[in-house]
Amino acid sequence: MKNELQKLKKEFIKGLEEIRDGVQLDELEKRFFSRRSGEMTQIMKNLKDLSGEARKEFGKLANEIKREFQELIEEKKTELEKEDKSGLSSEESIDVTRPKLPQTENGHFHPITIVHNKLEDLFTSMGFMVLDGPELESNYYAFEALNIPADHPARESMDTFYIKDHSDWCMRPHTSPVQIRAMQKYGAPIRAVVSGRCFRNEATDASHEHTFYQMEGLVVDKDISIANLIGVMKELLQGILEREVEVRLRPGFFPFVEPGFELDMKCLVCEGEGCGACKHSGWVETLPCGLVHPKVIEYGGLDPKEYSGFAFGLGSMRLVMQKYGIEDIRHLHSGDVRFLEQF
Ligand code: PHE
Repeated sequence: MKNELQKLKKEFIKGLEEIRDGVQLDELEKRFFSRRSGEMTQIMKNLKDLSGEARKEFGKLANEIKREFQELIEEKKTELEKEDKSGLSSEESIDVTRPKLPQTENGHFHPITIVHNKLEDLFTSMGFMVLDGPELESNYYAFEALNIPADHPARESMDTFYIKDHSDWCMRPHTSPVQIRAMQKYGAPIRAVVSGRCFRNEATDASHEHTFYQMEGLVVDKDISIANLIGVMKELLQGILEREVEVRLRPGFFPFVEPGFELDMKCLVCEGEGCGACKHSGWVETLPCGLVHPKVIEYGGLDPKEYSGFAFGLGSMRLVMQKYGIEDIRHLHSGDVRFLEQF
């Protein structure tokens, strides 16, 4: 019993020394004095099992210790309150000459965020607005107003996830619906980019994900031509990749542009040799683009005889892969810290 009391006292003193704030002090108090499981309470309970003399002797000792503990707790409380008021305890001061502690790891942005922020800076410097749109989108904005009627085969290439019992809503398969929303809201002339998450019913592999990011661009004004489109595309790629890139333009079909193009860039991961990131072709489909289809301008509430425009839909995760030499798109959403720490 005596030993037990001694041990308890040691532990209490040790616990008390480590206390830095009121919460910790409450915890210590509970640990020793809680009615049900407090360590001191337990000892007091055990006293009743002792016989006459021993009970008297240890009862006295235990009571003394209990009182001592309670006094110490009160003292500590007052001390903490004083510190709270002054910010520093009387023994504490700031030593400005002390060397700093070793730097611990800071948080940082995800590579997708880094690239999107950079792109947004680049486009705002060219007078573009940065817009947002809903990820859960109506079929009207996702397809119809983009000149993709219900029975159009292009819907198949953009198969996405639908909402149960609400088949007129889908998880947007691209950021293009915001083209329509932007024209309807802001009219023309307009220069806007939209960064955001898109979704597709996709079997994933090294270059495909079911959830991915795009940056949409839209310019509508008088006399916009392919020359304007190409100029801006070049600015975009060189601005973000900070090096010369080789590009090629192919015809591409998207119902909401006419003419439509696929702008590919030579794969920077393998320098055109062929790898997982470029589907072993040496070229990466980076920038589908084109001149806005007159019907789309109409859906946007503008007159296609007065206005023309260009649009592009950058697959920004692919650009991230090119910028950093990442060979598999699935790393980006893996949440693997060993991967993320590299940026
Ligand atoms: N929205 C198209 C896609 O996701 C890309 C695109 C945008 C093409 C704008 C042309 C113009 O595939």
